[in-house]
Amino acid sequence: MIKLPGLIDPHVHLREPGQTHKEDWDSGTAAALAGGVTMLLAMPNTKPPIFDAGTLDLALTAARSKARCDYAQYLGAGPDNTEWGNQADLPQKAAGLKMYLDSTFGQLRLDDMTLWQQHFMQWPKELPLVAHSESRSMAAVILMAAIYDRPVHIAHISLKEEILLIKAAKERGIKVTCEVCPQHLFLTRDDIPAISQGHPGRGEVRPRLATREDVEALWGNLDVIDCFATDHAPHTLAEKDGENPPPGFPGLETLLPLLLTAVEDGPLAFAQGRRLTMDDIIQKSVTNPRRIFSLPEQPETWVEVDENANYELHADEMKSRCGWTPFEGWKVRGRVRRVMLRGKIAVEDGKILVQPGYGQNVRGK
Ligand code: NCD
Ligand code: ZN
Repeated sequence: MIKLPGLIDPHVHLREPGQTHKEDWDSGTAAALAGGVTMLLAMPNTKPPIFDAGTLDLALTAARSKARCDYAQYLGAGPDNTEWGNQADLPQKAAGLKMYLDSTFGQLRLDDMTLWQQHFMQWPKELPLVAHSESRSMAAVILMAAIYDRPVHIAHISLKEEILLIKAAKERGIKVTCEVCPQHLFLTRDDIPAISQGHPGRGEVRPRLATREDVEALWGNLDVIDCFATDHAPHTLAEKDGENPPPGFPGLETLLPLLLTAVEDGPLAFAQGRRLTMDDIIQKSVTNPRRIFSLPEQPETWVEVDENANYELHADEMKSRCGWTPFEGWKVRGRVRRVMLRGKIAVEDGKILVQPGYGQNVRGK
């Protein structure tokens, strides 16, 4: 048995308000705990999107009565909410500001680069600013971080050109940090047929699965990666297999087993020769996210893992409401046996033992 600190996932979609048939604050935080995640930051591309005091209140009211693990909620950058200086303490009540600069699920995409600049200038420098920006828009975001001399965190990087540019920017003292998701570490576009099972929508995710060369560049530059994040993006199988399938993979319950398996002599193709250490997992899933997002420590909180348990990942054993996983049937090593959260047993042998409402808003004071 090994003991890890509770993991922090800085990138989770919980779908409440508005699309609770996919997930809600109860099912999503249960899935988090089952995966060893004791604190998560929830994304704002809900229905309605979270972009002002009223919509933030909608999300936080649901969270207060339903969340089982600790959390904070992001605000989204829109065309009409750049005046953060006139918003009293609204920014402080959020996990951070999320900017959607490339197309994805939801209505929050910002195309006008002058609006990007406004948010960069007006969002308080000491609070987290996260960008969904791929490829060349990521280069523009890093330039803005340099121009306005403020930190920026790049969500879910997936490409060789991205990790190399972030590395160069860090070497020059630009305040950029980044996260990588398991799907971009363990899957390439060659895996899409196996994931799809004849339903191409299942392989849709943003950023798209990349090439083997991209994946190898991520493994080859692990020290440039600040955080692991799931980008848990649940959609039901009916939606994934229907017309206009929405992009997104669930990930909360597969994160830790995949990472732990990559610590072993890897059955996972890309782990070979580039193994993770336990210290990598703790740094990128606890220490770094806590520092980058200014999150509090969670006292009496830990995850007990049976490091020798070999088993297969199956969606029908998971808590997420979406009912599928791109890692179905994968053989992994390392199972969460127990999770303690602030002195209470939160999970034991697959059972969630803390009630909805036990979770605390870490930006609540
Ligand atoms: C996310 C979703 O479904 O909310 N989808 C995805 O493919 N990652 C949106 C996002 O994170 O861009
Ligand atoms: Zn996301």
